[in-house]
Amino acid sequence: MPPIIQLNQLTKTFLVDGHPFNALDGVSLEVQQGEIFGIIGLSGAGKSTLVRCINLLESPTSGTVLVRGQELTKLSSKELRLARRKISMIFQGFHLLMQRTCLQNICFPLELQGIAKSKAKERALELLQMVGLEEKANSYPAQLSGGQKQRIAIARALATDPDVLLCDEATSALDPKTTREILSLIRDINKRLGVTVVIITHDMKVIEEVCSKVVILNQGKVAESGTVEEVFSNPKSEAGRRLVYPGGMPALHLLKDSRVIRVAFNGGTAYQPLIASLAIDCGVKANILGADTRNIDGKAFGTMLLGLPEDEADANRALQYIRSQPNITVEEVQDYHA
Ligand SMILES: Nc1ncnc2c1ncn2[C@@H]1O[C@H](COP(=O)(O)OP(=O)(O)OP(=O)(O)O)[C@@H](O)[C@H]1O
Ligand SMILES: [Mg+2]
Repeated sequence: MPPIIQLNQLTKTFLVDGHPFNALDGVSLEVQQGEIFGIIGLSGAGKSTLVRCINLLESPTSGTVLVRGQELTKLSSKELRLARRKISMIFQGFHLLMQRTCLQNICFPLELQGIAKSKAKERALELLQMVGLEEKANSYPAQLSGGQKQRIAIARALATDPDVLLCDEATSALDPKTTREILSLIRDINKRLGVTVVIITHDMKVIEEVCSKVVILNQGKVAESGTVEEVFSNPKSEAGRRLVYPGGMPALHLLKDSRVIRVAFNGGTAYQPLIASLAIDCGVKANILGADTRNIDGKAFGTMLLGLPEDEADANRALQYIRSQPNITVEEVQDYHA
């Protein structure tokens, strides 16, 4: 199936103090129908600009935006309005209408489409039920918690039966527990309705929790992309390593003369048993220089830096042993003196 969203060489140039500045610089990516796709990057990386280009709230300086094969930049304003109904968006700040009740907020996009009031109300009630807030139909946004406001915003976003839900830092204003609840609602909606979801965040945990694919955006460019497992267990780009190891890479100067390897776990053996069996099965004692393993989907992922013994034969034996393990990849770290 062709991708539902396809960005080709997208560039957005702003004039800042009279000088051109590329907020996006040749971004290409593809989102497949039905997936939950993550875009992560530090503040100022260009995430919001990117997501606003997907529904053409921001018009790209160059490059193309295809949604379901339709090139949005080529549409008339009427065609674009119709295409946009199928691309909904939720935000960190919820953006609810404060003078309207929850029910009226959800009815709003339907009224804009000219749908009869009674029909709109019926649909809004269904959506309230889907997000678990039937009892708040007649409450005003000011009477709701942050998590409840975001549920109403999600219900409103779904009112027009979109194919794509764009979430720009939708959980950044929420505490960790509420964040998990909202993410679980988004996952549920994705599964039940088949809506493709694009999640923009600066928080790795959000990506780990729900996304299958991820793009790391850095200074307007794609630094790396792949499955969440690949990228987070073994980040290849500088920007990726900064996100995965926010405290900096572990100190490597301790074992100056021995070989250092990076072991990446892809859902197999946990690392303690590996070190133990290295000692028992091959009589080699490896030093753990640093480890950052995490749980994704109930499986262990992550990387570990190991210092191998100085003795060449021992080191080779250890390497061979680790390479023979399932779901583990090994690379030698060349620049460990740095
Ligand atoms: N309308 C604009 N005019 C000029 N510069 C802009 C404009 N919009 C965004 N920028 C600049 O483009 C860069 C990317 O901004 P953007 O809002 O896309 O970043 P972001 O990754 O969403 O950051 P955050 O995580 O803080 O929301 C920033 O340096 C920003 O100052
Ligand atoms: Mg932003």
